[in-house]
Order: sequence, then structure tokens, then C-alpha cells
Amino acid sequence: MLTLANNPHRADGAAATLNNQIRMYFGVDYYPEHWVYPYAGTVEDPEARWRRDAEMMVEAGVNVVRLGEFAWGLYEPEEGRYEFDWMRRAMDVFGVAGIKVVLGTPTAAPPIWLARKHPEILPVDADGRTYGEGTRRACCMNSDVFWEHSRRILRAMAQALGKHPQLIAWQIDNGLGGHSMEASFNEETRRDWHAWLKAKYETVQRLNDLMGARFWAQTVTKFEDVPMPRRSPTVYNPALILDWMRFSSDTIVAYARMQAELLRELTPGIPLTQNLRALTRHFDHFDMAEVLDFVSVDSNATIKSRSSELACEIDMMRSLKKAGTRTPDGSTGFWVIEQKAGNVDWQDVNSLVRPGVVRMFTYQLISRGATGVLYFLWRQPRIGSEQFYGGVLTHDGRGQNRVYQEIKEVGQEIKRLGPALQGTTVTADACILFSHDNDWNLKFVKQPNKHFHLREHIQLFYNALHDRNIPVDFARPTEDLSKYKIVIAPSLQLLAGGEADLLKLYVQNGGTLVATFNTGLVDEHHIAPDSGYPHDMVDMFGLEVLEFDALPPGEENHLTMKGAFSATHMHPARLWCDIIEPKTCQVIGTYAKDFYAGRPAVTTNQYGNGRAIYIGTLSHQHFYNDLAVWLRQLCGINPLLKVPDTVEVCMRQKDKTRIYFLINHQNSPVRIPFYKPMHDFLTGKTLTGNYDLPPHGVLVLDENVAAP
Ligand code: GAL
Repeated sequence: MLTLANNPHRADGAAATLNNQIRMYFGVDYYPEHWVYPYAGTVEDPEARWRRDAEMMVEAGVNVVRLGEFAWGLYEPEEGRYEFDWMRRAMDVFGVAGIKVVLGTPTAAPPIWLARKHPEILPVDADGRTYGEGTRRACCMNSDVFWEHSRRILRAMAQALGKHPQLIAWQIDNGLGGHSMEASFNEETRRDWHAWLKAKYETVQRLNDLMGARFWAQTVTKFEDVPMPRRSPTVYNPALILDWMRFSSDTIVAYARMQAELLRELTPGIPLTQNLRALTRHFDHFDMAEVLDFVSVDSNATIKSRSSELACEIDMMRSLKKAGTRTPDGSTGFWVIEQKAGNVDWQDVNSLVRPGVVRMFTYQLISRGATGVLYFLWRQPRIGSEQFYGGVLTHDGRGQNRVYQEIKEVGQEIKRLGPALQGTTVTADACILFSHDNDWNLKFVKQPNKHFHLREHIQLFYNALHDRNIPVDFARPTEDLSKYKIVIAPSLQLLAGGEADLLKLYVQNGGTLVATFNTGLVDEHHIAPDSGYPHDMVDMFGLEVLEFDALPPGEENHLTMKGAFSATHMHPARLWCDIIEPKTCQVIGTYAKDFYAGRPAVTTNQYGNGRAIYIGTLSHQHFYNDLAVWLRQLCGINPLLKVPDTVEVCMRQKDKTRIYFLINHQNSPVRIPFYKPMHDFLTGKTLTGNYDLPPHGVLVLDENVAAP
């Protein structure tokens, strides 16, 4: 057995050396507070289990743990009485083991005494009901008292633990916005809302005009009269709903920024991160990424997850921060600070993740740019509401279990792979645009067709590119898009005037833009254009959308495709059909029936040095596959490698080094023919001819084959 005494990574000065040797962070989320007497250890040695855990972690190749993100009530059991020693002792244990620490700020779980003393911090829902204390996230993000107490616990914590040699990063809070706690309707929120509106509109007149408050005569004479969108007989003005979403987002980001600024002042140089989830929470993740030094992600892959959906989410998260990244080891990329080590606990049926699948998910994350991976969680807790979450260790803590063995194997592989991956990044020629404003608009404002879902629309494009091994970035429309050969803009119904201008600039300078129905129907104030749809871009697409027809699910029109766009199937037109008046565009596809039969449905238009392609309807996956093939030829995009369809390929590169990841997501082997020899990083062997990639198997390859 490896003990701390004979551990080659022992601290006493060795920790610093180890840190230099670390080429990739690999770790677990650990809760030392769960593993003391009476749940572990003994009366005489209540924290004994920590040492055993650290030893078992070292055996698994773990070099980092995340600790403490829910520990406020233990750090401060009563107001002003602090107890950080236990955490310092836990960090010391990891110091001896040579394991680094990311500390969470504990504000996600306010202590009960705080809400008892200041019940006004408790969030209020849209119906005016107050949530109770005693779980996590039970706090209003606009509460001054909560902000003040957050600052206080951060100061105390940074003072007590911030200089600990093991500390390599802070995680700000945990799952901000989670449990639908993005907004609350407290009186303090109302006050901040009015201040936010004042700062945005400056005068009541402007607010009334830009919000379109004349509709149903909901004009106000003072800012203080603007309602919060609470429970009401019918819908609020869309511009008001959008502003509320923006305000709530700004509140969450401001709260994170407050913590970031304080931590930067108290512990300069320690990088900051936060665990984000793939865009399911309603705050602007791009704004949040600007506050952080590096982005971290919670990955919730389950046995039902589709590989391209996971890949899409990972690419979205990687894309949040494209510049200014500073991870603990100075590399770029993002961390996965919670990769589920097994089954989750929030589905109706939480099936086990099959053998080899945690390893496969880990490589999928690494292949798409992760430079640190930590598993949630080290051991299934014996107490609390997440007892049956899959852990690296099971309740018994013996380490004989399947997942521990699997993760030990991955840990060894990561040690071999880390140095080769150092400094490599994922680069993409294709980019899909996404804006939170537009997403909120589509989700929370009345829509022409409620069966249309942006996420599904994005996924159709993404699948087509993913399955052809074409890497994809995501971006907001305001980013510099000039490095992309193709930019896809699915249904940007809300498009700010400035955003439209930037898209035009991109095309003018030679880019290929693919936009779709449901684009440019309203501007940033939710005002519809009087100059035709898509607003401000009629000239670029060389067409005007005169009307749009919403189709119920199950009812279809059809597309007749022409010219170079070769259709492998009969393509339907579903849910939404734009009725297009062509101007300068070339028609690629038309509708087959109804009163708009023969009218354009898919077009392309030369604009400046580039081309603007318009798809006036939603189709099925085969259409997007054909589109990807056509675009690939048009724009000269090469797939990474040619492999059978069921194998996912991704590449990380640095200068001339190209490291390919081949992942078999199937439950059966796949035969891959290698026409030229490839070097297999995980085994050191050279692969030539046919290779059978086992079920859920992974290959990490480059072309650096040793001379025979
Ligand atoms: C994460 C959270 C963890 C755990 C997990 C369960 O968002 O950070 O603490 O609760 O969800 O899904």
C-alpha cells in the first residue's frame, strides 16, 4: 500500500517541484467535513480518514482537490465565531500528499443563523412567496445584507486560508443561478431594478418610448412605478421581460465580480474560476467568463447522453473565454471542475454509467480543450441529500469498486499524456452564434410557434458539423469573427442593430454567413423593423421576408433543391416557413406546396467579398448534413480525419504538433483503417492497417512515428 511516508510526491519542499512537473490537473471534489467522526475516523483520531483518502487519491494520480464550497456554516457556526482550523488541517494533509487545492467560497449555502437573523435575505418567487432557509441558494442576490456577510466570510476565509501553500485557485460560489434562483422578487430587488432602469434609460420618456410602454397604455411617470414581472393576469411587455432578464443577469455577474475583486485584493495572483453549466441557467455566461481567470464546467453526462449533444455543450463552454485565460498552471483552455464520476441522482431512473464510460467522457472533455478534470465526487456521502450520487469511491470507501479502478487507470494515462498536451488548443474554422438576449427572448416572450426550440435548431447544425469532424466554436454576434471560414447564425430573432452591422462586415470581408428563418424580427429594444425582415440585412441576403407561416408539428411542406446542393433525401420544411421575395439572391431551394409553392426557401447572395446564405425553414437532420457537405466544398474546409461515422474525432494542436482523439461512443467495436502509421500515446505503439477500437474505447494519436 502506498502511504504518505513512502509517497514519492511527498511535500517538504517537494510540493513546489511537483507543481512544476504537473502538466495537467487531475482531481476530485472532496468534502473533508463529511469524513470525520462519527461518519469516519475514530473518537481519538476523528480526522484519520483524510489521510487515507489522500493516499488513495495519490494512488489514483490525483494532484488537485476542490474543497469547501458549502462550508460557511462550519466556518462560522455563529455570527463572528470563525473556525477555519479544520480546513487548514485538511489542506495540510493534502500538502503532505503533494495534492493542490482549489477552495470554493462558501456563499452558495448561507448558514441558517444568517436567515434567522435577517429573514429579508430569503428569496421571494414571482407569486410573492418566500422560500425557506436550510438548503442552499436560499438568498436574494440583491440583498445588501447578504452581500455584506458574503464579503465578511470571504475576508475571514482569505485571511485564514488564502496563504496556504496548497491553494492554487478560488472557485467563486457554486452553481450561481442554480435551482432557478437567478431572480427573486424582494423589495430590495425592486429598488435595484429601478436603479438599473434609471442607469439604462436616463429619462422616463426614453424608457416609455424604447420599452414600447404605450402598448396597453402601460406608461409610467416615474421609474419607481415600473413593475417587476411578477404573477399577472397575462403577459408583460416583451421589452420589460427582456430588461428583467438582463437586470437579473447583471445582478448575478455583479455579485461574482464583487467576490472576484475582493479575492484579487486579498490574495493577489491566485486565479479565479466558477463552475458553470452549459447555458441552462439564465445569466449571460459570456459576461460571467469576463469576470473569471478561467472557466470551469460541471459536466453532467449520463448514460442517456448523446455524444454530439455533449460535444456541443463542451464547445459552448470552451468558447466562453477566448482570450485572457489564466489557469493555475498557466495554460489556456478550461477546467471541468465537476465531471460526474458515475450516475447522477436527479433523474427518475439513475442508471449506472457503464464500464469504460467515465473514462470515455473524460477523454471527450480533454479532446475538446479541458486542461483540468476533477470528478464529482470523491466518495458517496453517508449523509445528506446526495447520498446516492455515483462517486469515485462507494460508501464503503475501500477502493475495490469499479469506478475507482477505472479512474486509477485514467490517472496513470493522464500522467503520460499531460506533457504532450501542454499548450495545445482546439482550433475551429466554423462558428455558431449564440446570444443570451436572443435565447431569453425566444424562451420567455410569446412566439409565433411555441414548438420551435433554439437549442434543437443549433443542435441540427452542430450535429452535421460534428459528424463530419469539423470543429466548431461558439461566439456572440459582437465578437471578432474574421478568423472563421463559416459563421452560422441560427434564428437570431433578436438582433441588435450593431450586431447586424458586424455580421455585414464579416461577409463583406469575405466570410460565409449562414442565417435562417426567425432572424432580425426585432431589435435590442424588441421593436420590429419597418424596413423589412431580416432587419438591416435585406441587402446582405438579397431578399426580403414578407411573411412567415407557422406549421404545427407533424404538418410539413417540402423543399426542392437545385444546383450544386445535392440532396440525399427528400427534405421537409417544418414548423416555420418564410415567404421570401428574392432580390439579388440566387435561389438554391424552393417550397413544394401550399400558396408559396415555387417561392425561394434557401438562397445565397454575393455580398462584398463574401456570401450570405439564407435558410427560410427548419428541416430534418439529413438536410443539415447535406448543407454541411455543400458548405465544406464552398469554403474549403477539411475534416480532421476520415474515420467511420460512429467515431468522434477532435484535435488539439500547437504549432506543428497535432494530437488526435478518436472516441468510440458505441457499445460495439469499430474498425478503423490507418492508411499511414500513427503513434498511439496511451500505449506507445505504432498503429497501421486495421485497428479495432473497442466499445467506448479511446485513441490518442499523432503522426510522430519513431523511425523504423
Ligand atoms: C452541481 C453542484 C454539486 C452537486 C451537483 C449535483 O451543480 O455544484 O454540488 O450538487 O450539482 O448535480
